[in-house]
Amino acid sequence: MAINYKKELEGAAKTVILVHKPDVLIRMIVRMIVRKVKVDHAGILLHDRQRDTYVLTVSGGRTGLKIPKGFARMDADNPLIKFFRNRIDKEILSEGLIVYDSAEKALKRKDLNEETRKILKGLLYQMEIFDAAVCIPSYFRNDLLGILLLGKKINKSKFGKDELEFFVALTHDVAMAIKNAQLFKELETELTQKQQLFINTTVALAAAIDAKDHYTHGHTARVTNLSLEIAKKLAQINKKELDEEFIEHLHIASLLHDIGKIGIPESILNKDGALNELEKKLIMGHPDIGAVILNPIKELRECIEGVKYHHENYDGSGYPEGLKGEQIPLIASIISVADTFDAMTTDRPYRKGLSKEEAVKEIERVSGKQLHPEICEVFVQLYKEGKF
Ligand SMILES: [Fe+2]
Repeated sequence: MAINYKKELEGAAKTVILVHKPDVLIRMIVRMIVRKVKVDHAGILLHDRQRDTYVLTVSGGRTGLKIPKGFARMDADNPLIKFFRNRIDKEILSEGLIVYDSAEKALKRKDLNEETRKILKGLLYQMEIFDAAVCIPSYFRNDLLGILLLGKKINKSKFGKDELEFFVALTHDVAMAIKNAQLFKELETELTQKQQLFINTTVALAAAIDAKDHYTHGHTARVTNLSLEIAKKLAQINKKELDEEFIEHLHIASLLHDIGKIGIPESILNKDGALNELEKKLIMGHPDIGAVILNPIKELRECIEGVKYHHENYDGSGYPEGLKGEQIPLIASIISVADTFDAMTTDRPYRKGLSKEEAVKEIERVSGKQLHPEICEVFVQLYKEGKF
């Protein structure tokens, strides 16, 4: 029964959209060609961009003729690659592919120059090595992404025009899928690098804030770690999937929660004795200053809430706005618990820090007053599990 190539192509196009991994896709395509078109074998040479070579990535067949994967590697000098890369195919053939018989015929043409003749001869030789009856190149713009190699048809008949057109269209779809996957991967890598750069910059900035306060060395890093632990545990307890975006915002917000202290004189931050009213007022301004500093960066919108409200109290007695209960954003409530615990356990010149046990007891005592009760519960749970 004749194959409905249009239908097969539509099916393949759907597969191309659904399958995002090019290697899986290519394997499926090769398998489909071998099965449907009934060729004795098929393989795909794919461009390895790092080494600028073409590697036989997939090879399959019915006749046992199967070149081991990765066995064949061709560099840019190989006649097969040269033929398609230099677009000699355009000069000689118009179908967008090469059939062994037509290439043999083309070799007899009188108008060929010596160089083309040499490459064509080399090409035929390569096709013989692979026992290929047809080679179909796939391009993205002018880049040769790969070559589909097909053996003879099992019934020994010649490939029909519709079959050859089918291969060209199919190879084009595969090229698009490969290119899309490559571009997607590159974009992902670039994004990860940028994110890492951003985090590193934030960490450096946080270290600069920490350095202003001589007594709380490493405070920001500890608050950040603890905040992230709390968020993860909270998701686990509520049986919710971890909200990666929230975690990212919390990471940045906890790193920058005290950035507003940049505007407060060190003489006040490091004062040994009790603070006077004006000094207290200045210190209490740091969440607002932090929010003002970060406000122009639109990517930090979600983080600003954590910075601005990390000194709000659950019962409404905090600052800067006196928000109450659930009015306080979750991101701020989490930072608040971590920040309070770390402040209590750190030595100050005028008092010694509490032990972990004492501090956890204190957190339990102020739960529902100063701190969000649910977050305190999560925090205590983490402590019992020995997480800090
Ligand atoms: Fe603070």
